[in-house]
Amino acid sequence: MDCKSRSSTCIAPINIAVIKYWGKSDEEQIIPLNDSISITLDTDYMFTKTTATISPEFTQDSIVLNNEQGSGDGVRFQNCLSEVRKLAASSKHASTVEKSTWKVAIVSENNFPTKAGLASSASGYACLVFTLAQLYELESHQSELSALARRGSGSACRSLFGGFVRWFHDSQPCIARPIAEAEHWPELRCLVAVVSNTSKSVGSTEGMRRSAETSKLLEHRVKNVVRDRIEDIKMAILEKNFVKFAEITMRDSNQFHAICLDTYPPLFYMNSTSQAIIQLVHRYNQIRQSVKVAYTFDAGPNAVLFLEQAEISRFASVFYSVFGSTPHDQFFRGKVPDLVDPTEDVTSLVPEKALKGQVQYTIVCHVGQGPKNIDPTG
Ligand code: DP6
Repeated sequence: MDCKSRSSTCIAPINIAVIKYWGKSDEEQIIPLNDSISITLDTDYMFTKTTATISPEFTQDSIVLNNEQGSGDGVRFQNCLSEVRKLAASSKHASTVEKSTWKVAIVSENNFPTKAGLASSASGYACLVFTLAQLYELESHQSELSALARRGSGSACRSLFGGFVRWFHDSQPCIARPIAEAEHWPELRCLVAVVSNTSKSVGSTEGMRRSAETSKLLEHRVKNVVRDRIEDIKMAILEKNFVKFAEITMRDSNQFHAICLDTYPPLFYMNSTSQAIIQLVHRYNQIRQSVKVAYTFDAGPNAVLFLEQAEISRFASVFYSVFGSTPHDQFFRGKVPDLVDPTEDVTSLVPEKALKGQVQYTIVCHVGQGPKNIDPTG
């Protein structure tokens, strides 16, 4: 490679929405119909890693995604790229301005299986924009980068920040901003359950377009529901009120999937295992006589469960007895919990042998930080 080429390598986290983004008011600009709130997960187990290289020798932009040659002409990829180049072109440093005219080679991979339906576009586009900003040495504020990542995939604008993040639908520019840092709620844990899935579902972009065109329930949600929920869950997060946080999270996931059913033709993202997980969580909370665990589901059957550290061994043991069919250190990845003998009361939650193996594995994480540069000199 020529001596003028430059590279940078960064990683970015995934985020899980507890108040969902579903529906756009502007498809091209990716402006959402409502605000959403998400939690950024740690990058110990799941992240996107991207290396961006620029060189005056390159004749075209190129992208390799998970070892497969992608199309450097993709509209969303080019939208992100041209926005970053615009910023670089307006830099006060002549060398950055020069580099903004060079073509770029992107190599990006997720260290989690995208085939399992885990959100990859959020960490992917956040990582792309962050890495390019590092490469061009842009002095942009993180919120400016958030607006750029949004042009790749809406939910990506939230992955530019760690902790608890709100994406504003009517801010100018349309960006996400943190509500609280990753360290704010150290006891909070997240268990991602990867559910077996054979059917191919409709992607988020197409699904939300269809909902926005056909669902009256989505209209009702945007007009009458989300605003209060955003304020309420923000308070619950700031007060670390798990019971309140959990109830709003579950209700919002349920409403999102109700909208999917109200969409015409309907969208089915959850499957019978997802429903079994929902039932298990409600029965577990009932037996524990308090809300100890919350679930949320995106556009697929995988469950994301939230709970506090004090509950993790007890709940993980129950969850494993219902769904686990592999040794426990294979079933739990990330921060593997200690298991306990499920106590008598919770044993009653373990009826159906048929559910064993329906969850392939789980990833246990905590709230994490935003993207970071992992260059040796970075
Ligand atoms: C269900 O960000 O993937 O995960 O903006 O069209 O790329 P596009 O959609 P995307 O949608 C994510 C939808 C969701 C809810 C959420 O993350 O808020």
